[in-house]
Amino acid sequence: MQIQTAQDVQRLMAGLIDSTWAFSALAAAMELGLLDALDPACSAADAAAKTGVTTDVARALLDILVSLGLTQREGDRYQATLGASQSLLEAQRDDVLAWLRSTHFQSRGLVDAARHGSLQAGWIHTDPEILQAQGRTGRAPIHAMAAQVFPQLPGLEDRLRSPDATFLDVGIGVGIISIEMCRIYPQLRVVGLEPGEVQAAEARRNIAAASLEDRIEVRPQRLEELTDRESFDLIYLPQVFMPIEVVRDGLSRVHRALRPGGWVFVLAITAPGEDLHASTTRLLNVMWGGSPLLAEEVADVTRSAGFESVQVGGPPGSLMKSIMGRRSV
Ligand SMILES: C[S@@+](CC[C@H](N)C(=O)[O-])C[C@H]1O[C@@H](n2cnc3c(N)ncnc32)[C@H](O)[C@@H]1O
Repeated sequence: MQIQTAQDVQRLMAGLIDSTWAFSALAAAMELGLLDALDPACSAADAAAKTGVTTDVARALLDILVSLGLTQREGDRYQATLGASQSLLEAQRDDVLAWLRSTHFQSRGLVDAARHGSLQAGWIHTDPEILQAQGRTGRAPIHAMAAQVFPQLPGLEDRLRSPDATFLDVGIGVGIISIEMCRIYPQLRVVGLEPGEVQAAEARRNIAAASLEDRIEVRPQRLEELTDRESFDLIYLPQVFMPIEVVRDGLSRVHRALRPGGWVFVLAITAPGEDLHASTTRLLNVMWGGSPLLAEEVADVTRSAGFESVQVGGPPGSLMKSIMGRRSV
């Protein structure tokens, strides 16, 4: 849309402010468990009593959820719509909440840093709440990859289920992907590289809570220092958090660190095009410390590092794109 007049600007601002408050209302409702409180359907007063807010607050939040199509109102009773019940409750609740939290924390951080003259690119967060929320966003995609992508790749599923199966998680963060991989593949052993002290401490805490200390090793090491040879069956390289120079050199290190026939899984998030979604993914990619490369560009860099059978995929509808490449057998 071309902005021509002051009224256009006002309309744009009004729409953005509505969207921001709608996002915050959804996040607040999820934090409160407001949607869960609607099972069975009930009044705003009943939902308020279950969630510890006043009736006015519950009704105001629920009315926004009605506008978003996530709840419906009949008389004075509210009920979650079918789509909301299927995707915002039960198992999916924590995954959605992780996305809402990490988006909220990171976008607030962007504005605060700009206001205080300290805005810089890079994954510089050390607040455990932000690290845990961001880490948690990896849970659903890694399950989707294990269900839909890994079984299609020659040899990978057998290797991941074998008694000497090994996985390298580059930038293990708080450990969520490694923990989930151990749950999916019961014999898998994992090494996680993590230069950040707070991240490593959080990872060790999560790993201990999952009783996986004997299967996941957290190494205080950068990708640039990786010298392992022919040691892993699968390596996860989230290049979105690293500049292209680190990724190029890192892919060669990863290639050497893979067992012959092993696979690398490289993550990309930047979407093609000039629309709002594409430019938002570029901003996110840059703020995470990576070079905003399209999945196809990442695939080219992966091929240049000597990988074969390079292919772009990823869970349908997801922000995340997976680039898979194989070290020759
Ligand atoms: C946001 S985290 C990934 C989240 C992670 N999957 C989880 O479950 O928490 C990305 C991590 O990559 C790490 N990282 C950044 N550059 C790195 C590098 N050059 N070598 C190794 N790790 C790096 C960061 O410290 C950060 O913890």
